[in-house]
Amino acid sequence: MPPLAVVTGANVGIGFHVAGQLAAKGYHVILGCRNHARADEALARLCTLCGTEARLEFSFLDLSSFDSVQQFAAELLSSCKSLDLLVCNAGLNAASAPQEPNEQLTLDGVDLIYQTNFLSHLLLIFLLLPLLKAVRGRVISTSSVMHRAASTDKFQLVDQERTPYVSLYGLSKLAQILMGTALHRRYGEEVSFHCFNPGGVASDIWRDYPVWKRRLLSLVLLSPASAAETLVATCLCEEGRAPSRPRYWNGYIGAGRHVFFEYWSPLRAGKTLVPSQPSYDACSDELADKVWRQSAAILREKAGLMLNE
Ligand SMILES: NC(=O)c1ccc[n+]([C@@H]2O[C@H](COP(=O)([O-])OP(=O)(O)OC[C@H]3O[C@@H](n4cnc5c(N)ncnc54)[C@H](OP(=O)(O)O)[C@@H]3O)[C@@H](O)[C@H]2O)c1
Repeated sequence: MPPLAVVTGANVGIGFHVAGQLAAKGYHVILGCRNHARADEALARLCTLCGTEARLEFSFLDLSSFDSVQQFAAELLSSCKSLDLLVCNAGLNAASAPQEPNEQLTLDGVDLIYQTNFLSHLLLIFLLLPLLKAVRGRVISTSSVMHRAASTDKFQLVDQERTPYVSLYGLSKLAQILMGTALHRRYGEEVSFHCFNPGGVASDIWRDYPVWKRRLLSLVLLSPASAAETLVATCLCEEGRAPSRPRYWNGYIGAGRHVFFEYWSPLRAGKTLVPSQPSYDACSDELADKVWRQSAAILREKAGLMLNE
């Protein structure tokens, strides 16, 4: 049996190339995507790129809905015995999120960006833990250097409408890193939990920006394929094997030496692993516990998931 990987948000951007590169390395890859037509198109392109031998399939996953996450996980639990890799990659930024107060929250009553980028992925991790534990699996979350800009008092806003609108993008990325610590403390002997900051990448995440800005960004930022190459290196490296402590890797050379290079550098990391220290808040055990308790309470209330505190 080939090793199994799940990649969320794999129909475009970084996730698309991660799925293709893992398939080329012999993984059976499940693309967790929210749009059938876009996922089918991506599968067709990936099969052309990787060859007919490649094992790739699509399974519906809408991370703005806890119900959808539960259905996705239930299907996987009923059809697979183990999961080697879970790449929590799908994400939305502020430009793609509705700002009208009555549209800011999902049907589950959580901020759309926060739920899509972080909370639904956390739910997915919990539900798939039995499969991950079966093979000392690995979880890689695509975080961002923007976690550094997050103000921790915004955690009280995750289920609140805001006027004026305040984006929780940075907060969702900070929460991903904090949860790496919290999850490692509880399950780290059997599963490893790491984060990857791709740096600036000219992907579809900028789709709602003006055309001139997107053109400019595509000249100076990394290609999604290049960011994926580094992410795949984090999926396969020895340093990332359980029970290793959570790491925060980067898409640019130099990020370990100066925080500026976490945002941008002329040198892409490629297959080189470039670890750095995330923000002071991201390293706080106290904050990790607080966010764990808050997340557990939300998932208990809205998704019926019972977590140990
Ligand atoms: N690009 C950058 O400069 C940059 C920098 C730092 C971190 N990141 C992070 O990198 C990750 C990948 O982003 P990208 O740059 O590759 O952007 P992208 O090209 O826009 O890809 C984002 C993916 O997430 C999916 N997605 C969005 N909402 C979803 C939902 N509710 N359910 C399921 N899938 C959903 C999108 O699906 P649809 O096509 O259906 O919308 C798409 O497949 C994100 O977590 C992002 O925050 C990106």
